[in-house]
Amino acid sequence: MMETAKLIVERGGAGTEGSVSTYEVPYTHGQSVLDGLRYIRTYLDPTLAIRYSCTNANTCKECMIVIDGKVAYACTARLKPCDMILKPLPTKQHLRDLVTEIAPPDERLVNAIAKSGDA
Ligand code: FES
Repeated sequence: MMETAKLIVERGGAGTEGSVSTYEVPYTHGQSVLDGLRYIRTYLDPTLAIRYSCTNANTCKECMIVIDGKVAYACTARLKPCDMILKPLPTKQHLRDLVTEIAPPDERLVNAIAKSGDA
C-alpha cells in the first residue's frame, strides 16, 4: 500500500475569512514539503497559492512558511508520512494561502513608484 502525507493547509487571503484545506499526497522518502505542495497544485488543486522559485535549490528563499509550528523552507523540509500543518508566515503581510509579502518595503513596486513621484 502506498504511503501518503496529509497536508493541512491554512487558506485565505488578506482581509478574507480563512479556511483550512486538507490534501493527501503520495509520500516517497526524501521528498520535500515543496514537492508535496507542487503535487497538490498539479494534480489536486491549482487554486492553492504557494511561492517558490529555485525548486529545491534553497537559494531563492521564497518558499518560507510555517511547518508544524516552525518557520522553515518548504524546499528543504522533508515531507513526512503523517499529518503536517502548513501556514503562512505570521510576521509578514499575508497575500493569499501560503504566500506572504517577502520583498523589503523599499523594493515593492507600489512603494518604489510612490518614492519616484510617478504615482
Ligand atoms: S524554493 Fe527557493 S529556497 Fe526554497
